[in-house]
Amino acid sequence: MSSLKGKNILIGISAGIAAYKIPLVVRLLKKRGAEVKVLMTPDAQQFVTPLTLATLSQNEVYIHFTAAAPSGGSQWNDHVALGKWADYFLIAPATSNTLSAMVHAKCNNLLIATYLSATCPVFVAPAMDLDMYAHASNQRNLEQLQASGHQVLPVGEGFLASGLEGKGRMLEPELIVEHLEAFRPNANTLAGKKVLITAGPTYEALDPVRFIGNFSSGKMGFALAEAAALRGAQVHLISGPTALDAQHPNINIHRVQSAEEMYTVVHQYYADVDYAIAAAAVADFKPSDKKDQKIKKNQGGLDQISLTPTPDILASMGERKKQQMLIGFALETADEIHQASLKLHTKNLDAIVLNSLNDPGAGFGDTNQVTLIYKNEQQIPFALQSKKELAHQLWEELISDVD
Ligand code: C5P
Repeated sequence: MSSLKGKNILIGISAGIAAYKIPLVVRLLKKRGAEVKVLMTPDAQQFVTPLTLATLSQNEVYIHFTAAAPSGGSQWNDHVALGKWADYFLIAPATSNTLSAMVHAKCNNLLIATYLSATCPVFVAPAMDLDMYAHASNQRNLEQLQASGHQVLPVGEGFLASGLEGKGRMLEPELIVEHLEAFRPNANTLAGKKVLITAGPTYEALDPVRFIGNFSSGKMGFALAEAAALRGAQVHLISGPTALDAQHPNINIHRVQSAEEMYTVVHQYYADVDYAIAAAAVADFKPSDKKDQKIKKNQGGLDQISLTPTPDILASMGERKKQQMLIGFALETADEIHQASLKLHTKNLDAIVLNSLNDPGAGFGDTNQVTLIYKNEQQIPFALQSKKELAHQLWEELISDVD
């Protein structure tokens, strides 16, 4: 079930071009069962209409300090009541002007008045042109808002309305909603932490067209990367071939093919990270002799394949472990706890995530059922659930273990 179900979410829209994406945010929140109210600055109406927002949110849209009263005349739009109504207050897009007004309590519109009255968690999704976003004044304001305990969402990178290209786009609606979904008040975060995750299968080439691989989808590793990014970590996701894509701007994706390539990229980043999770299904063997030309079937070259072991990436991380919390995965089919615990100790890990192919729903699909085993043999079982939700629960557990 979505953590947003039944939540009152107030959205404050300021006057940036990204305001045109807010109707989608409203839709996505409503779909997850949230109650949504929208308020906007007067200038934001030039970018998105109150009618669209009222229709999608099924609530009136608040713009001015006063509104027409049903009995004639005007009535006060009670910013205090609005602020108290909200479980979460999302300010998106947050323009340079709005950020500055928030920092300085410059209460010249209903959005800021409500912000100053709200006591709930506040999420800020900045949106600006690249030089404005990079400007020291805006960066200072964002730091200050973060220091006040607000959730400052990262910005995306790409084409900007100015025609320039770079950092400053408002985070995409789906990711804004994921941030709200992942938020747990008073939860531990990974802000300022560096995380390395391996994911997916590896392909070990036999010739230019054939390889030895496995059925790993990469979904567990990608879910762990996204859940870490949503908690504020900078993530290096080192993935073998998969159809998946990582959208979050905090995720740096490095695509590799073979175990040897994965090994090389892992050690470019491993020394510097706080957490490393090896979720990749790395091939244990590669063909000893990769042919430069396609092997012909009538030449008998495929009736026997000689294999050589690949580097054990996780074991090499265990050998070089310093400050990192190192977590491995184990997919077992028999004597599972014992086998996983053996792996945990021989590879010098801090914890291992065991999934047993004997549990229906564990392994290659969209769901997983695992047991986390710490090096002190403590076992934490997790219920069968989606890999995305499991990734959040695993992080909550791993972070709380360190504190
Ligand atoms: O020893 P086994 O392959 O069962 O261990 C599984 C764990 O080791 C997984 O975390 C996997 O990502 C990692 N591994 C690795 N390099 C290998 C083989 C496995 O990092 N060559």
